[in-house]
Amino acid sequence: MTRLEPKESWHPKIVDHPSPRPHVSVRDLRKVYGETALYDDFSVDFIKGHVTTIFGPNGCGKSTFIGMMSGIIGIDGGTILYEGRTINDTRIGYVFQNYRDVLFPWLSALDNIRYPLTFMGIPILKQREMVDRIVAQTRVQIDLSKYPYQLSGGQQQTISIMRSLVVRPEILFLDEPLSALDYQMTLFMRDLLQRIQMETKITMVVVSHDLEDAVYLADSIVLLRKGPTRVSRIVPFSAQRPRTLETLSDPAFIRAKQDALLTFQADVRGGMDSAPAW
Ligand SMILES: Nc1ncnc2c1ncn2[C@@H]1O[C@H](COP(=O)(O)OP(=O)(O)OP(=O)(O)O)[C@@H](O)[C@H]1O
Ligand SMILES: [Mg+2]
Repeated sequence: MTRLEPKESWHPKIVDHPSPRPHVSVRDLRKVYGETALYDDFSVDFIKGHVTTIFGPNGCGKSTFIGMMSGIIGIDGGTILYEGRTINDTRIGYVFQNYRDVLFPWLSALDNIRYPLTFMGIPILKQREMVDRIVAQTRVQIDLSKYPYQLSGGQQQTISIMRSLVVRPEILFLDEPLSALDYQMTLFMRDLLQRIQMETKITMVVVSHDLEDAVYLADSIVLLRKGPTRVSRIVPFSAQRPRTLETLSDPAFIRAKQDALLTFQADVRGGMDSAPAW
């Protein structure tokens, strides 16, 4: 009897679209503040090379979560692994929620950007090369000899993003990178982040309190709800890149935003105990 063996040509490998695999795997995470478990038995994966945005109500634990994933905040149980490795064997970048407090005021923009390299003991010539690469990559035209107080809010945030990228991280965590910017600057920064991601294919995890930003940037939106924090839903959004202002009126964009909003509203109504009193 002749058996038909599947031939490789019947199952071509799709090189451009490798099957998604997790870059960050969070399992059974626990985090306790005082008497309260903010996170308990919490698990989720973040896909390699994707932009995942995190959206949820105020105080649900978004900053704590990316703080724990980037090793800034300790955990009380569970594991967070980066392709099976621990944080100590992983290069990450982190952009803080409030850019105003995170640049060193006594250092120029240039010295702020290369600070992590100085900290790592990288020789000065190599530092220059690494900074030049980031300047070329971001195509940012800011006078890097200026000090933070001489820069606009958007420029300071750009410097803080450049500082996070200079170490060539595998994963970039950003906590509300657009929240303190005016709308024009938000549009610029959103597209800067998109361009960086398209060119480097870096895995990005972005907290956002603005649903338009959260959907625009995302391959998927992780919706969190309160007490203890849970993943309420993951909404995929696969519109082609680069996304533009036209994306905002694309039916798929409107649908993803609507789906996320309905889930968010249902979650907030379900947890009215903790809602603000108007
Ligand atoms: N160091 C801490 N000690 C005690 N409680 C904390 C600490 N950090 C955060 N919390 C509490 O944990 C909860 C989650 O805080 P977190 O800042 O992670 O929320 P968030 O979702 O980022 O909020 P926001 O939307 O305001 O940025 C809040 O109730 C907060 O008060
Ligand atoms: Mg926060």
